[in-house]
Amino acid sequence: MKKNETILITGANGQIGTVLTQALRDAYSAEQVVATDIRRPQAQSDGPFEMLDVLDAEALNGLVKKYKVRQIYHLAAILSAKGEQNPQWAWDINMSGLFNVLNAAKEYGLKVFCPSSIAVFGGATPKVDTPQDAVLQPATVYGISKVAGEQWSEYYHRRYGVDVRSLRYPGIVGYQSLPGGGTTDYAVDIYHYAVKGEPYECFLAENSRLPMMYMDDAIRATLELMEAPAAQLKIRTSYNLAAMSFTPAEIAAEIRRQRPGFAIRYAPDFRQKIAESWPESIDDTPARQDWGWQHAYDLPKMTIDMLRHLETYYHELTS
Ligand code: SER
Repeated sequence: MKKNETILITGANGQIGTVLTQALRDAYSAEQVVATDIRRPQAQSDGPFEMLDVLDAEALNGLVKKYKVRQIYHLAAILSAKGEQNPQWAWDINMSGLFNVLNAAKEYGLKVFCPSSIAVFGGATPKVDTPQDAVLQPATVYGISKVAGEQWSEYYHRRYGVDVRSLRYPGIVGYQSLPGGGTTDYAVDIYHYAVKGEPYECFLAENSRLPMMYMDDAIRATLELMEAPAAQLKIRTSYNLAAMSFTPAEIAAEIRRQRPGFAIRYAPDFRQKIAESWPESIDDTPARQDWGWQHAYDLPKMTIDMLRHLETYYHELTS
């Protein structure tokens, strides 16, 4: 990425968007990164911010021209749990949003990042060390839209030469922002309760093992994939990406090593079924081979970092 090129981010106020926007502004410059969302950011934006509904292709193209955008990170999407409340709506947003981004990329020759998810797996997918080329039988509308999105991304690359890149994110855990509408959200919420000294009621069962990743790793993976020479990338659907896997009971035990009084109770709801349809662990060999992916955080290291940052956050809130 050249120093005078502009990046546009959709869903910039979301869980990943908040952190990715800052990381890109740190890596390049604040003015080079145009944050967009359907809501205004809560904190003052230190670079350009524009209201953008990804369903509005004309508005998106207008911003691409206005800012001479060269790259789009398309993070706006409805996640797994929220999507199940209104499947048709989730499908429309996830697919029309993607098409608007891919068509802008085709029209203006942009490089794009369109993330996918472990939600593409389900049904007959092998659950342990799920390989890159596994059967894809998603159980949620979110997963169906991500499978379709992966295929359309690959199609735009093959047919129109669009430089589109993608990762199948596991559940992402970070202190900087809150997730919304996902099945893996419990792994963020639990740390907030632990730091506030409150008992946590978990919406997944104690032994539901899911693939997860610390935010720092997820952001670094995204930047490294986007910086990798195109010739090294053999996969244009989406790369499997892994760091760790754990259950609610295991994360609670790890928290208790730092906070012995922490209490958890389990009250699985409709999200339990979604979790059960997903893999327990992911084999991400192609990502490691093609562009050198290496994770840095495991569960103990992540727990120490999460608790430390959230302690500072809540301390500053109350002092
Ligand atoms: N974190 C997402 C979700 O739970 C998975 O991609 O929906």
